[in-house]
Amino acid sequence: MAQLWGGRFKEETDRNVYLFNASIDFDKRLIYKDIEGSFAHAKMLGKQGIITEEEMNKILTGLTTIKEKVEDGSLLITDEYEDVHSFVEANLITMIGDAGKKLHTGRSRNDQVALDMKLYVRDEIDRTDDLLKEFQTILLRIMKENLGTYMPGFTHLQKAQPITLAHHMSAYFEMLVRDRSRLKDIRKRMNLCPLGSGALAGTTYPLDRELTAKLLDFDGPTLNSMDSVSDRDYVIEFLDALSIIMMHLSRFAEETIIWNSNEYGFVEMDDAYSTGSSIMPQKKNPDIAELVRGKTGRVYGHLMAMLTTMKGIPLAYNKDMQEDKEGVFDAIDTVKDCLKMFMQMVDTLKFNKEVMARSAMRGFTNATDAADYLVKHGVPFRDAHGIIGRLVLYCIDKGKAIDELDLSELKNISDVFEDDIYEEISLKTCVDKRLTIGAPSPDKIGEVIKIYEAYLK
Ligand code: ARG
Repeated sequence: MAQLWGGRFKEETDRNVYLFNASIDFDKRLIYKDIEGSFAHAKMLGKQGIITEEEMNKILTGLTTIKEKVEDGSLLITDEYEDVHSFVEANLITMIGDAGKKLHTGRSRNDQVALDMKLYVRDEIDRTDDLLKEFQTILLRIMKENLGTYMPGFTHLQKAQPITLAHHMSAYFEMLVRDRSRLKDIRKRMNLCPLGSGALAGTTYPLDRELTAKLLDFDGPTLNSMDSVSDRDYVIEFLDALSIIMMHLSRFAEETIIWNSNEYGFVEMDDAYSTGSSIMPQKKNPDIAELVRGKTGRVYGHLMAMLTTMKGIPLAYNKDMQEDKEGVFDAIDTVKDCLKMFMQMVDTLKFNKEVMARSAMRGFTNATDAADYLVKHGVPFRDAHGIIGRLVLYCIDKGKAIDELDLSELKNISDVFEDDIYEEISLKTCVDKRLTIGAPSPDKIGEVIKIYEAYLK
């Protein structure tokens, strides 16, 4: 049991208490961030003359050696240490002796762990952003290839109006644009350095907090030492952003599951991203998409857990805050895994274009356009709505689409119909005519694609 305290205790910590209190099991993930932070702190202590240059150099060399040894596996992070901070300090002292005991001058584990978490989360924001961007590139590729791939658009999961696959993919592209901008906001807001806040009330050493902030790529130091050591807003905000990303993935997953169902048949999932059944030989199941949908709950759970953990904590640091780690680590792993898996699955989807177009044809998705045809010929919209309603009823009875009726059948319902109706309500016309910004016509989606290309550069 190697711990950084003990002087004022008469008895050894109970072994089980030690283990209950320890965080090394999970905070070892912060090892490189901890070393990075200590590096900056030591440099600053040296520059300020709080330690000598020689001591500083010894510390820096020692930290580098620890980093290398952890990397190559010759130094193992074991539960002999209470937490990652103790691990680094104990090993530093073993390695370089007394100079190592000076690293913690003007520092507390409270500002240290606040810093480590910030460095870690900041990095993971960037990694998540990279993955989102990669996914957008895949969506853009699908868009470009499917400007004229017709499919039904749905409301209430009922066929509504015709759209294209490009239009549908663009909807998800937009969600990812928002996800990325959310991450950017969080990164900007959190990017102030807590190091130098000490345990809660700063320190009497002449620390240069501007310098450590700069060395660690922060926009500046935080302005209140108590808030600095007890702020986990950025963890909550990141969990929130991750939850929203999962919500988007889950909706997309749900759609691919529906599209892949025997009844829809819009897509076929690649064999590599599907699984079989142990009993039913015919099955090819969309497990990847289902897992993405399912894992969403667990990321939401971590957000709720963190909000709850933080809600009753008086200023400043309290040990409750050690609970910030496992949840956010798991959320990060989950989201990154889901993003990687799901984007590859989407990248390999085979779209059954004929099935999609037929589905749009057979679902009266051109009914609004048929009503608009009547309106253009002087029928008030409300009357046109009623006429087309009766027409749809007739079609259902005959098992035909509107454009499969002959002109005499159409005229029986309204004599306004003429030969040009067929052209007017073809899938192509219905889509091409939708020319407002954000609508599915290939012209408009073409413009959106150009905007996306510039955005991804
Ligand atoms: N393992 C602790 C955490 O994650 C480090 C900070 C400990 N500070 C303290 N005063 N006990 O929060």
